[in-house]
Amino acid sequence: MKITIKTIAKLAGVSIATVSKVVNGKDQNITEGTRNRVLKVIKENNYVPNRIASSMVTKKTKTLGLVIPDIANPFFPEIARGVEDKAKDKGYNVILCNTDNDIEKEEGYIEMLQEKMVDGIIFTSSSRRKNVSQSLLKLHIPVITVDRNIEGLKTQGLVRVDNEIGAYDAVKYMIDRGYKKILHITGPIASRPTRERLKGYKRALESNNIAYDEKLVFEGSFSSDWGYECIDKIISNDIEFDGIFCGNDLIAMGVIKELKNHKLKVPDDIGVVGFDDIYLAVMIEPELTTVRQPTYEMGYKAAELLINTLEEKEIDQNDYMLKTTLIIRNSTK
Ligand code: RIB
Repeated sequence: MKITIKTIAKLAGVSIATVSKVVNGKDQNITEGTRNRVLKVIKENNYVPNRIASSMVTKKTKTLGLVIPDIANPFFPEIARGVEDKAKDKGYNVILCNTDNDIEKEEGYIEMLQEKMVDGIIFTSSSRRKNVSQSLLKLHIPVITVDRNIEGLKTQGLVRVDNEIGAYDAVKYMIDRGYKKILHITGPIASRPTRERLKGYKRALESNNIAYDEKLVFEGSFSSDWGYECIDKIISNDIEFDGIFCGNDLIAMGVIKELKNHKLKVPDDIGVVGFDDIYLAVMIEPELTTVRQPTYEMGYKAAELLINTLEEKEIDQNDYMLKTTLIIRNSTK
């Protein structure tokens, strides 16, 4: 016998509407006893709600799209964990799309998610994206951006950190620890976090009477390969330095590895600071001094903002700038 929502309602002795509310996480006005009885009957009968059928009625699929640019960077899976936990808590599913920073893939996923009739999208764009596209401008469903906005794209909210202050605190700490020639090895300048971190780096130098020298700034990508290649280039060009502020932890990991290959000790010869505080920051030797982003909370807040928008709940603000924390470990003296 096919188990339908009608079967469950009959077995649980409730209306179809009550079963629908329990299934869709809209059961705030249903007693605990009724809710548990419905869930028990659903479990006993292995009932799986027909989301497509219900979406034809409600025009909602209770599904969110999550688009991230680099699943190999531990920063983004942590965002995804926060999104998924909040979504699950409110009865939503999540379709995760990884673009490998490829803008064409990004556009393709945005189109696919609309075909799948997701109710809204949480989006961190490629670090290479320089401008908004027509397909993004034509988006007819709510979008919340995380970590980096897209100039020209109006969204229902942005969740990020104060990158400028985070970078300022890191470089000010290095200066206070006696570092004088501090390099900045950055992510792509197209990415707003990179530009904000560069501003913080500059402000820390200038407010401590250290002249900003653009020859000590090296723009690249948020990857350990870039950290590795950049150190090689710097050392072969005989550039003098005693400290390095890196655009993110992956860059810092590549930097530390290549400094060691050049027989330079961290932190005795060179101090190194990262950005993100991914779980790998304590798995390397020496453990990394870095700027912690509340990454899980960023994902959780983005999902909360999107769901509140979808459920037409009041949102008190739509631009959330969370704080960073300087985490001092052993890669600085
Ligand atoms: O590590 C990836 C970087 O991209 C993070 O620093 C995050 O801020 C994003 O900009």
